[in-house]
Amino acid sequence: MENVILKKEGNIGVLTISRPCALNALDFKTLVELDKVLDELEGDESLYVLIITGDGEKSFVAGADISQMKDMNPIQARNFSILGNKVFKKIENLRIPTIAAVNGYALGGGCELALACDIRIACEGAKFGQPEVGLGITPGFGGTQRLTRIVGLAKAKELIFTGEIIDANEALRIGLVNKIVKKEELMEAALKLARKIASNAPIAVMLAKSSINKGYQMDIDTAVMYETEVFSQCFSTEDQKDAMIAFLEKRKVEKFKN
Ligand code: HXC
Repeated sequence: MENVILKKEGNIGVLTISRPCALNALDFKTLVELDKVLDELEGDESLYVLIITGDGEKSFVAGADISQMKDMNPIQARNFSILGNKVFKKIENLRIPTIAAVNGYALGGGCELALACDIRIACEGAKFGQPEVGLGITPGFGGTQRLTRIVGLAKAKELIFTGEIIDANEALRIGLVNKIVKKEELMEAALKLARKIASNAPIAVMLAKSSINKGYQMDIDTAVMYETEVFSQCFSTEDQKDAMIAFLEKRKVEKFKN
């Protein structure tokens, strides 16, 4: 892997997109590397949470690679979009929760990458936007869909039609990010949140993610039935028994097993 770096800190994975020559812009090669590393992560049972960030001080991901897209014909553009959407879907549906630690520009495909994560933490100087229409294209890695679902129809339309770049405070105000922290505290804040998630019963967390993601695409009656299924599955885990016994004995579970 050249443009994607994976490090592990206990049960937490930290995936860094690293293409300093282009502010970490996503080209074909980086997307293929991401695709591969996500398959490894999906099978790694030692990981409970994944953090995704960008290399350097300035940028999370400054979009899809414009120099690569410049000469694409519609078929190549289609394949590029399909690959990006496949990768971002893998992030969205990864069994474990994902946190985008947005350390700078999250524009176009970079904003779409952050949107594919479960939770977004931004540093104070981070910038967000979908500037594609200024380049004669639409968002193509899920932005028209995920931004709409996260910030609502009217705000998503405004951001996508104007291509306006917003700062972290505005992103927080509209619900695009969960939290803003000082730049130097970003990774620690992301790790702190990851550790808090990882301290809970991992199967319960995974099933909760699945219930939220799948249920969000269903009608409410089917969705609550799905919730009932995942809820009842928890009762086949040791963690459920251990945690409830511990509560009744007025102590905490030392470490979840599953
Ligand atoms: C290719 C990029 C790039 C990108 C930056 N670079 N963004 N290269 N693709 N998306 C390169 C620049 O060309 C430059 O290379 C180097 O990174 C540093 O960037 P500068 O522009 O010199 O930095 P700065 O002046 O600080 O401006 C930062 C910036 C600007 C505001 C983020 O780079 C910018 O506007 N970038 C493009 C953002 C964007 O429009 N993203 C959406 C792309 S479309 P050199 O060689 O000159 O040093 C998209 C579609 C997704 O994402 C869907 C696809 C299917």
